[in-house]
Amino acid sequence: MADAAAFFDHARIPEVAKNAGFLPNSISETKAYLRRSVSEWRQRRPERMTFSIILKGQRRWIGSIELRWLNPGIGEIGFFIHHNQWGKGFATEAASAVVRWAFAKGKAHRLQGSCWTKNAASIRVMKKLGFRKEGILRGYAKVVKQLQDDILFGKTIADR
Ligand SMILES: CC(C)(COP(=O)(O)OP(=O)(O)OC[C@H]1O[C@@H](n2cnc3c(N)ncnc32)[C@H](O)[C@@H]1OP(=O)(O)O)[C@@H](O)C(=O)NCCC(=O)NCCS
Repeated sequence: MADAAAFFDHARIPEVAKNAGFLPNSISETKAYLRRSVSEWRQRRPERMTFSIILKGQRRWIGSIELRWLNPGIGEIGFFIHHNQWGKGFATEAASAVVRWAFAKGKAHRLQGSCWTKNAASIRVMKKLGFRKEGILRGYAKVVKQLQDDILFGKTIADR
């Protein structure tokens, strides 16, 4: 909960909200989102696992990686990094750790993720994680109230 203000400060930036598509848009929604994330962790097999990214040595929240189990063994990842920290490799470093964990310990056999077609940074991160482009999800994302196409990326245990 201590991270709520930093989280919302980030989520309210139009460029972030536009690309992430799922961020809360008030401080009370942010707190509800964080409370839900914490309570999910207390379950034996959480459906949604939200990992905080903390800057080494500073105990400062700089972003999150979400792993949502769509089915047993099939997870969907999403990520966002505080805008002050973009371009330093943090999304790639943190998401790589979650992907490794999901295959090695989380019993995943397939991971997937998607982002809208103009989200160049996210597309690049997916590729750096070794995800392959699998197709286009037409009209999947609502970006600034407009339906847009998403690119679906996937990685299987055989691709590790
Ligand atoms: C997408 C996001 C998580 C990337 O975080 P990050 O920590 O900056 O990512 P990294 O530094 O690990 O890698 C970013 C890569 O994208 C590239 N990139 C950034 N902006 C780019 C652009 N406009 N065009 C092309 N490539 C771009 C960077 O050069 C880097 O690639 P490189 O290592 O080959 O140089 C961050 O931009 C973000 O939080 N965006 C808003 C939320 C969002 O879009 N989430 C994804 C929804 S699934």
